[in-house]
Parts: sequence; structure tokens; C-alpha cells
Amino acid sequence: TFRTIDDIERDRRLLVRIDVNAAVEDGTVQDSRRFARHAETIQELLADDHAIALLAHQGRPGRDTFVSLEQHAEILAGHLDHRVEFVPDTDGDDALAAIDDLESGDVLLLENVRMCDGELPEEDPDTKAETDLVRTLAPEFDAYVGDAYSAAHRSHASIVGFPRVMDAYAGRVMEQEYTAITAIREREFDGPVTMVLGGTKAEDSIPIIERLDDTVDRFCLGGVVGELFLRADGHDVGYDVAGTSRFDHQWETYRDDLERILAAYRDELFLPTDLADEDDDGKRREQTLDGIRKTHPFLDVGSETADRYAALASDSAAVFVKGSLGVFEDERFADGTVTVVSAIAEADCFSVVGGGDTARVVELYGFDEEDFSRVSIAGGAYVRALTGEPLAGIDVLEGQH
Ligand code: 3PG
Repeated sequence: TFRTIDDIERDRRLLVRIDVNAAVEDGTVQDSRRFARHAETIQELLADDHAIALLAHQGRPGRDTFVSLEQHAEILAGHLDHRVEFVPDTDGDDALAAIDDLESGDVLLLENVRMCDGELPEEDPDTKAETDLVRTLAPEFDAYVGDAYSAAHRSHASIVGFPRVMDAYAGRVMEQEYTAITAIREREFDGPVTMVLGGTKAEDSIPIIERLDDTVDRFCLGGVVGELFLRADGHDVGYDVAGTSRFDHQWETYRDDLERILAAYRDELFLPTDLADEDDDGKRREQTLDGIRKTHPFLDVGSETADRYAALASDSAAVFVKGSLGVFEDERFADGTVTVVSAIAEADCFSVVGGGDTARVVELYGFDEEDFSRVSIAGGAYVRALTGEPLAGIDVLEGQH
């Protein structure tokens, strides 16, 4: 266990790590779920008269999602209905001046922490505590609040460094997500448990199948992960227009694991029987596995597969969604994911939607969050927590006792 924001005295100067890392297209943030959740923590902190400086990241150096947090401040202010000042600096003179000016009831967002040298790479907490970032900012505050559950699997300075040298507490998002996901692991269900397992990473899916084998009775595979398993099953899928493979690297790395898992868990693994790609007119085209043509990359599971997965979900005591079945951001290829998520929303079962950007489907296609037991805003952290791996950002908060 860890201490929470309930344990902080009023009117303190707080450094709060949130995770508003979002999908970004053409430089613009596309998704606001994480903002809405963190706004709840910040509201509570404001009610206790704290002065708040927020630390967060967006993207990674080298990617086009690696942008300034200026627009994040505005989005957050909208959710808070409270001014959020932004300073385009994290631990330099401008940041220190803005922190110095902070008064009770103020909210300041510092610049993308991954623009600072010491934030990445992943190193142990003591090494991270020695970074300039931590040494510069820590003395400016009375306490640290870790609220970035969805980044808690990263041993980065802003996640594990500060709690080594400061009084540290878990924020509400951290507390709630942690409690919900821990409860899932310990829960017993009276009936079949289904996992919709899609997305793009074999790396995530292999340990999930192996470690959740006791909990989950059937895995409905889709997305790139589904295609990788189809290939392991001898089907000629996974090619792009030029006929070259788009997941050769994953295939080479994980082929043995995929084949081994397919053989070991065959009865629990459900593979797509049809897939959808884009025809020459840019329309959705469905193909059954038998008559498959290596034309365009597949972007969704077909309707027969989606209906079969939806029926399995409807007949479950619990359903977990990790990763989407297709490129749901594009309406033409959202059918598979939306059909299955609709069945889950209507079903009378325990349900968790999370993993990568998957929970975004809830917002994008107008589902009511109330129709699910939990919509997790975490991606990698959700997966790790589900499979029982420790999260560095939680361990370091627990170490405070
Ligand atoms: C996430 O969005 O899952 C977290 O913010 C972690 O981001 P990362 O995968 O770039 O470390």
C-alpha cells in the first residue's frame, strides 16, 4: 500500500506527475480521456488549497507525437474549469521563476518532461534521483504526488526519481486504477472469462496468454496480433500492397513463441476466419481466409469473425479488452471492434476496456462509460499489471513506508 492525497496536510506546494500522453495527429491532441481523469485529482487538490505544478510527457524524442504541452494546458483547463498556466520550460530558470510565483490555488503545467536529458532512459530509482531534473525541482516543493498510473511501468526520473528524495503520495487516478486492476487479478468469476486481444504488439500478447491462462478461458485474437497468429497457423497473411510483409520483424522475433503458444493453447485461442482490407476504390472489402488475396494490408477482422467474438463476449461472466481488432480510428475499419465492444456494453458481465489507445473507442463511438465495469486509461501499465508484473512507479511509492 501507499499513502494517498488524503494523507497530505492542506496548503502545500505539490509537484504532481500526471499522464496526459495522447494520440496526436498533425500536431493536434485527439483524445481527452486522460485529461478528464486527472482533472478529478487536481480538483481535489485545489479544494485543499495546494499550490500545484504538473509534470507530464507527450510522445518520445524522434516521433511526430513528441510535441510541446502548450495545448495540453488548455485542454486541461477546460476540464478543470480553472486556469492552467503553461511555461515552455521544465527545470530551467523560466520554470523556476514560474514555480516561485506559485500560490495556493494555482495550477502550473511544466513543459514535456521528455525534453529534459535526465528523464529517459529507464534506470533504477536511485540513479534517477541523481538527475539534474530531480535535484533542481525537488527542493522547490513540499511533496510529490504520483498520479501517472499509465506511465508507472516506466522507470523514468519523473516517475521514480522524485519519490526517492521527497515525501510522496499516490493521486486518485493512481489509486483507483491500481485498486481496480489488482482486484481483477484476484477476482473469481462464475462463468467463462473472455479476453479480446488485438492491437499491434506480439511482445505484449505472448506473456498475456501465458500468464492469464488460468484466468481467461478464451482469447479472441485480432489486429496485427491476430494476423501473426494466423501466419503461425499456416495462413499467408500480413503483406502490404507491394507483396512485402509488414510485420516481418515481429514474425522473425516471435515466430517460435507464436507457434509454441498456438500449439499449447489451441483450444483457448480463437482466430479470425475473415478479414477486411481496402479495395481499389478505397472501400472496405471482406475476404474469407480460404480465398485470401495478398493485395492490401488487412485493417479489420471481417463480420463473421466479429459476430462470433460478439457471441462469445455476450456469453461470458467477464470480458477484458486489450487492443483493438482493427484500425478503428478509420470508420471503414471500425466494425470489428465496435461490434464486439457493443456486445460487451450490452452484456451483463464484468468488463474492462483498456490497453494502448483502445479505450479511445469508447469515446470515439459514443459508448457510455457506465456500460463497462472499468475503462482503463492505461496501456502498457494495464497489461503489465494484469500479468502480475511489478510497476516501478508503484513500487517506489510503496517503498515510502
Ligand atoms: C502510455 O501512453 O502508455 C504512457 O504514457 C507511456 O508512454 P510510453 O509508452 O511512450 O513510455
